[in-house]
Amino acid sequence: MNLGFLASHNGSNMQAIINACRSGRLTARPVVVISNNRDSGALERARKENIPWFHLSGRTHPDAEDLDREIVDVLLNYDVKLVILAGYMKKIGPVTLATFPGHILNIHPGLLPEYGGQGMYGQRVHEAVLAAGARVTGVTVHVVDGIYDNGPILAQRKITVKKSDTADTLAKRVLAVEHELYVETIDHIIRGEIKLPA
Ligand code: GRF
Repeated sequence: MNLGFLASHNGSNMQAIINACRSGRLTARPVVVISNNRDSGALERARKENIPWFHLSGRTHPDAEDLDREIVDVLLNYDVKLVILAGYMKKIGPVTLATFPGHILNIHPGLLPEYGGQGMYGQRVHEAVLAAGARVTGVTVHVVDGIYDNGPILAQRKITVKKSDTADTLAKRVLAVEHELYVETIDHIIRGEIKLPA
C-alpha cells in the first residue's frame, strides 16, 4: 500500500511509520511527503530517506483551492492509497477529502472526543488533561473528515496520568505510544482487520 504523508513539524510519527515500512513490519511504501513548512523536520527526514518531498503551502499557492488541488495532484501522481497526517497543522481541503474519502488518517495526542477540536493540539491537550485532573489520557487514531478531530475513531490507547506528571512528561509518554499505535493501526488496515469507511 502506498502511503503519502502530510506533516508540519518534527515528523517523528512519520519516521516511525517509515521505519516500520523499511523493516517489513508494515507491508507498505512511503512514497511522498508534503509539508506546509519548508523548514520542517519532516522534510529533512524525507530527504534523508530519499522519499520525494514537496513544500506546498499558502506561500507556494496563495489560493486555497489551488493549494488543495496541487496536494491532490501530488498524491495521485505518486499513486497514494492512504494519506497519513502526522502532525499536520492545516485543515484538509474539500478536494483532498473528496478524492480520498475515508482514507485520510490522523493521530491525536489525547482521548477524543473529550480532548479535541480546533485549537486543541500539542501541549494544549496535555495541559487541558492536567487542568481537568484526569487520571487517564491517551492516543486516538481517526479518519479525517471536514471537522477538526471529528471523524470515526479507529483505535485508542489509554495512558495513566501520574500525580507527578507535567505537560512535558506526559507529552513524551504519549508520543511514544503514538508511534506504536499509528503503526499498529495502519497494519490492521492493510490486513483488512480495520475497514475504512468508503
Ligand atoms: C503528535 O503529538 C500528533 O499527535 C499531533 O502532532 C504531533 C506530531 O508529532 N497531531 P511528530 O511531528 O509526529 O513528531
